[in-house]
Amino acid sequence: MTATRKDDHVRLAVAQHQTSQDRRYGAASYTGAFDDVHFPHHALAGTDRAQVGLRTSFAGWTWPVPLYINAMTGGSRRTGEINRDLAIAARETGLAIATGSMSPFLKDPACADTFTPVREQHPGGFVMANINANATPEQARRAIGLLDANALQIHLNTVQETVMPEGDRSFGHWPAAIEAIAQAVDVPVIVKEVGFGLSGRTVTRLACLGVAAADVAGRGGTDFARIENSRRPSRDHAYLEGWGLSTPAALLDARGRGLPLLASGGVRHPLDMARALALGAHAVGVSGPFLTTLVNDGPAALIEQLTAWLDQLTALMTLIGAHSPADLARADIHVTGALREYCVQREIPLPAREEHSR
Ligand code: FNR
Repeated sequence: MTATRKDDHVRLAVAQHQTSQDRRYGAASYTGAFDDVHFPHHALAGTDRAQVGLRTSFAGWTWPVPLYINAMTGGSRRTGEINRDLAIAARETGLAIATGSMSPFLKDPACADTFTPVREQHPGGFVMANINANATPEQARRAIGLLDANALQIHLNTVQETVMPEGDRSFGHWPAAIEAIAQAVDVPVIVKEVGFGLSGRTVTRLACLGVAAADVAGRGGTDFARIENSRRPSRDHAYLEGWGLSTPAALLDARGRGLPLLASGGVRHPLDMARALALGAHAVGVSGPFLTTLVNDGPAALIEQLTAWLDQLTALMTLIGAHSPADLARADIHVTGALREYCVQREIPLPAREEHSR
């Protein structure tokens, strides 16, 4: 049952991104919340490419590049192969990588070998284990131990569970459970959403629970309400599709709330990566689009895509005049449209011009 669900998720996520393949490079017809974030053009702001570095540091870690393959899969034979190929691509390009939820392994240790290829293929890499907030501290330690993980992701997915017929219906114990896990494990904990966004209020709460970083994982990309709806014959929760905070809105709301931020959800191309870094993320995670490349075109095509993204991010930073991701977080940005309106109505501070270095 779990294995079938994991295969369904891959199939439906790829189908979702398939229809947006021509959007991947920002075709003009497609707009998302990231398109409300602009870099005002300063023609003399550019720097020398040789002076631009992609290294990013946060929560005591330094990653060579500010891009990672975010949590997706494991639990079936097919998803084990996908995990292996994602890890090869991450290794070849220096990316960090997370496995999908390790609940299948915690229920049935026989499927451990659908997760372990991630560590086997990326022995020196930054690997994140992934569990939900129902896991016990002992289960969290087992998940970390299986992968010799550098960090533990705990995913929050109330919307997805609600749409799933077999999903959880009790969420009230999650804050205490997160705190207990964070205390019990010997690697830092990153809390993430799964595509509905973490609000500033949520990140403020997380900062008090012993968490090391928050991945806002907002709306705009893979939509799990849509995926789970496709799996139920009645599709009676279709009105929940599109629920959640967009990734840029979540980043703006969650800035300055006491935790380092990571951004994922709806990142379509290197300009979105630059926008997320400019909004204060220390690194940017991508799931659905990279999965789609892997499934359609194979591991070599994914390596080529990751290499191109990093190359183009460097080029964008060169023209903007940002020497590092931290420098990009001080770049001049302008917020327009629905994103601006959202911030004004919610009294979320917009980036102030005085802060800008260039
Ligand atoms: C996911 N995601 C996810 N997240 C998580 O924490 N645990 C999980 O097991 C999964 N499973 C999963 C399966 C598949 C097929 C996809 C595409 C995604 C969510 C993922 O990590 C991310 O938060 C969202 O997908 C938003 O990013 P993208 O896809 O818009 O780049």
